[in-house]
Amino acid sequence: MKCQKIIIDTDPGIDDAMAIFFAGLSDKLDLVAMTSVFGNVTLDIATRNAMVLAEILKQKIPVSRGFSKPLVQIPNPVSDYVHGEEGFGDIPAREPKSKELSIPAHEYICDLINANVGEIILCPVGPLTNIAMALRHDPTIAAKVKSIVIMGGGVFSGGNVTEYAEANIWNDPHAADEVFAADWEVTVIGLDVTQKVICSHSEFSELSRNVPIIGSFLEQATEFYIRFYKEAVGIDGCQMHDPITVIATIYPDLFTYEYHPIEVCLESPRIGETIICKNKKRRPAKVAVDVDIDAVKKIFFDTIKTGF
Ligand code: BDR
Ligand code: CA
Repeated sequence: MKCQKIIIDTDPGIDDAMAIFFAGLSDKLDLVAMTSVFGNVTLDIATRNAMVLAEILKQKIPVSRGFSKPLVQIPNPVSDYVHGEEGFGDIPAREPKSKELSIPAHEYICDLINANVGEIILCPVGPLTNIAMALRHDPTIAAKVKSIVIMGGGVFSGGNVTEYAEANIWNDPHAADEVFAADWEVTVIGLDVTQKVICSHSEFSELSRNVPIIGSFLEQATEFYIRFYKEAVGIDGCQMHDPITVIATIYPDLFTYEYHPIEVCLESPRIGETIICKNKKRRPAKVAVDVDIDAVKKIFFDTIKTGF
């Protein structure tokens, strides 16, 4: 299989780090760029962390800075209680040696798609602000991107920040609604599937023994993340939202789908809820409703173990 080009739009974040490591180490993916966005952490921290992750991978992956706040609403607080103040649990902040690009993320996304028509999968795993702004900047990208695979929402599951809303959509519901309204091939990897894929501390400890640099980074970061899941969700492990979304770009057959046009509720109290739209004419999205849990976990750990 030809290497699939991917852009990850991200707010790193512990599960974002897993997704980026996976993409950087998979021989089936070419991580052409990362674009940063506010969300789990501030935009400054997200941009810095994306560059740090590229350096841990020992790869030159361009990083472009995106938006620091949502399109319309007042920003929600960052999720430091989930990801830690600096984004990677208790791991102290570290300054990257590399420099971010000077071009803003939404323009860079458009330039890359225009230079690689039909070849790029856009994979946002944070709030959809940069993507909505890219669509506003150049609406023709909708027809030029290969597809967009989104970590966000929960069409049947309900939310994880409120009863109704998943974090990425809740952080910029207006942007998300613009993204779902566009005429392009959207795959939704939402809580309907991501909540089913749970990894334990011992799985990260084993990874750490096999690949000390990346494994111990993830083992240390996930200690914090798993503590959150234990206290807030009552599970002994962490949900693998962002890495399984990247896995879906190259292993779509490990998921089962339903096809529904999606809109985002923009009114309180259900703001941020992803719902099947009844009255608007929209192209149906490919909504993942089930996943082969063992297979995606094996692909994740095997790729990290053998790729570094
Ligand atoms: C999503 O929200 C963020 O906290 C995670 O990184 C993931 O992208 C899960 O709801
Ligand atoms: Ca994320």
